Amino acid sequence: MSIQILGTGSYLPENIMTNDDLAKIVDTSDEWISSRSGIRQRRISSDEMTTKMASFAAKRAVENAGISADNIDLIIVATLSADKATPNTACQVQEAIGAQNAVCFDISAACSGFVFALNTARAYIETGMANTALLIGAETLSKMMDWTDRGTCVLFGDGAGAAIVTKAEDRIYETVTGSDGSKGFALTCGERKLNNPLVQHGNELAQIYMDGQEVFRFAVTVAPKCIKETLLKAGIEKEQVRYYILHQANLRIIKSVAKRLKEPEEKFPHDVEKYGNTSSASIPILLDEMNREGRFSRHDLLVLCGFGGGLTWGSILLEW
Ligand code: COA
Repeated sequence: MSIQILGTGSYLPENIMTNDDLAKIVDTSDEWISSRSGIRQRRISSDEMTTKMASFAAKRAVENAGISADNIDLIIVATLSADKATPNTACQVQEAIGAQNAVCFDISAACSGFVFALNTARAYIETGMANTALLIGAETLSKMMDWTDRGTCVLFGDGAGAAIVTKAEDRIYETVTGSDGSKGFALTCGERKLNNPLVQHGNELAQIYMDGQEVFRFAVTVAPKCIKETLLKAGIEKEQVRYYILHQANLRIIKSVAKRLKEPEEKFPHDVEKYGNTSSASIPILLDEMNREGRFSRHDLLVLCGFGGGLTWGSILLEW
């Protein structure tokens, strides 16, 4: 048994922030940001929180899949920027879209989150614990940015993407995932310290810290490695892959992965120039854009690949 994607959806905040807009806030320039990252603009929420964006993306995915929300029996939201610790984002989406038959939880795996969510849904479906799952990557990273740190605030953006998956008998699916907690220091956000009658540390603002060069080296090494391992496990040649849909962190990372895999850049679609790095949302947003443009045909082989905080990584080979 395997799974298939039935439909996709996404939501991006209205508000566009260009590199020139950022240059008014921190000491940077359009030239620096676009040459280092490929990013030209990003969406920054003025009132859309993570749950709201996740719910809009979910509604669009349900419509696109042509199902009723009643049919969904599993909702997983991948996010590192949930609006609340509890209820989790998935439960709030359940309420917003009327998916009363679903079991709902969030997972935290930073920019690998959507890949991990898809694998979790597949495990639920293959073991008969679920039939139809709604997976969402949703982030308002702007609320966790240090807006005085030009090394990070220029790279990230807000948005949400979603997919509906269900069981299928005859679809290719293979995956490789991994984690390295010893390198967690390279990308961190918001330590929650002890704060009780015995120990009072107070809590810092939850802000993203990143060692950019360490993360860059990690990404360009781990992404091609886990993609190659996935294809090997599946017995599929790289030439058979229609598209490599990578986490949209940085255009230089995407081009470097293409080069290391010795595959043409045209097989690596990107929208990082428009949206920046939206963490767990970037893969489903791109998937939705491409789906709505009609760029997928039945039997197309797609590789999804996420990598980021934790450190975590994962790739999935699937058949459209
Ligand atoms: N504008 C202008 N200058 C900037 C800047 C900005 N926004 N951000 C940093 N700089 C400066 C630095 O202060 C440094 O100046 P100095 O040499 O005077 O100290 C200089 O640019 C070089 O900084 P450095 O960090 O070495 O740049 P880099 O070439 O490594 O590029 C990144 C920085 C962040 C773009 C790059 O490391 C990267 O893409 N990393 C991966 C990030 C990522 O994708 N993370 C998410 C993965 S999930």
